[in-house]
Amino acid sequence: MISTDLLKSFLGDTYALMIKTHFFHWNVMGPEFPALHSMFEKQYTDLFEAADVVAERVRALGDHPPGGTKTFAQMTSIDDPVLGLDANGILDVLIQDHKNMAERAKKGIKVANQANDDVTVDLLIGRVREHEKQIWMMSSMRKVV
Ligand SMILES: [Fe+2]
Repeated sequence: MISTDLLKSFLGDTYALMIKTHFFHWNVMGPEFPALHSMFEKQYTDLFEAADVVAERVRALGDHPPGGTKTFAQMTSIDDPVLGLDANGILDVLIQDHKNMAERAKKGIKVANQANDDVTVDLLIGRVREHEKQIWMMSSMRKVV
């Protein structure tokens, strides 16, 4: 049976990125506001749903997912957002966060594969697919200066 540590860690990162994306949904400013405000809403909605799927996989494996912002803060390596970034600055930060999430999911896939846990592999492949899609979309929206 797979260790659920990787899933619990991935849950903390997913929650942290969800909260961070919500912050940028509120605070983005400039002519790109409508597009980015809407894109960030889709992203944090997906991250919220993903957190639920990851947490319920932890339960299905017989463990208990963590909860609470203080607990998640201790688990995640996603940095808090800052005010004052322009659209490109926000996109750069989030593109890097999604790249990190995709890398963590890929590492998790290797661990889950070694444990013959096909369901967790499938779950994490889905997360890599979504994070890479968001990297592509945000990179395409990034204004070339
Ligand atoms: Fe909103």
